[in-house]
Amino acid sequence: MEENTILEKKNLNSAVVKFVIYKPLIAASAQAGQFVILRGREGGERVPVTLVDWDSTQGTITVIIQAIGKSTTMFNALQQGEKFLNVAGPLGTPVEIKNYGTVAVVGGGVGIAEVYPIARALKQAGNRVIAVLGARTKELLILEKQMNELCDKTVCATDDGSYGMKGMVTDAIETLHNSGEKINAGFVIGPIPMMKFTTRLMDKLNIVPYASLNPIMLDGTGMCGCCRVTVEGTVRFACVEGPMFPAKTIDFDELIRRTSEYKPQEKQSLQAYQKDHVCKCGLH
Ligand SMILES: Cc1cc2nc3c(=O)[nH]c(=O)nc-3n(C[C@H](O)[C@H](O)[C@H](O)COP(=O)(O)OP(=O)(O)OC[C@H]3O[C@@H](n4cnc5c(N)ncnc54)[C@H](O)[C@@H]3O)c2cc1C
Ligand code: FES
Repeated sequence: MEENTILEKKNLNSAVVKFVIYKPLIAASAQAGQFVILRGREGGERVPVTLVDWDSTQGTITVIIQAIGKSTTMFNALQQGEKFLNVAGPLGTPVEIKNYGTVAVVGGGVGIAEVYPIARALKQAGNRVIAVLGARTKELLILEKQMNELCDKTVCATDDGSYGMKGMVTDAIETLHNSGEKINAGFVIGPIPMMKFTTRLMDKLNIVPYASLNPIMLDGTGMCGCCRVTVEGTVRFACVEGPMFPAKTIDFDELIRRTSEYKPQEKQSLQAYQKDHVCKCGLH
């Protein structure tokens, strides 16, 4: 079996795909909170994605990718039996796993997949784990069954009320708090505004917040400085010191500004790709 081969591909919804990839060395050392950098082809962009699962016996890793721009759209068009050009990792600092007591793992959209390995490790460390899963609409809510099986309690919220409670993950956390749940720590992964408001709320409710940051990354090994974020007034490199940080003092507004820097070019690049792309996978 050749490394980087896609052994399994499953569409989780219209934009999100799960890939099981043959990569024994990464499978042997991956830890919760770490990620890989993928390239699909020569000259292609380097894209960070979270290690959602790994199996050291089979030599496989699992990633779950949301098609959002050109590179992720190209990745999600790859088929079982095809290969990623490069799969580099495991990268990043693993999340500190210990017994915090009761923890909330909060995922928004594809962030649900990213928080899943953290939920699993926290459960194995003896925590009572409450999953709070949010999405715009029912179709976009992924991995509910897996989270249900793993966690002590699962609460779902959709913006349009098509599944679970109507509202955002912040509404779900407030409801849990008002019902008497005493949560000690919260691990949040999702869109940046969602992480900003969720960690603010957690701080107000005396829940120690942690958030996994997703700045634009290039090398992923601390050399380019592209992934700079500000935490407690200090510049930190998310690729090596994170991506998970204590969230109370993260400068989320700076992160929003920095990830928006290349929006016009990203849009142009996706449009050019979609114009020329002849779909073979039935997704586009
Ligand atoms: C540590 C880490 C782990 C990640 N894990 C996952 C994962 O498990 N699954 C997944 O689907 N995505 C994950 N992401 C986000 C993923 O890397 C981006 O969606 C991807 O780089 C976008 O590339 P693109 O060419 O398709 O889109 P682009 O055209 O580059 O960007 C499209 C849009 O996405 C935004 N964007 C660009 N780079 C990022 C980024 N790094 N993070 C978030 N938004 C970005 C842009 O502002 C723009 O609005 C992760 C990011 C980081 C930093
Ligand atoms: S991505 Fe280059 S230093 Fe972090």
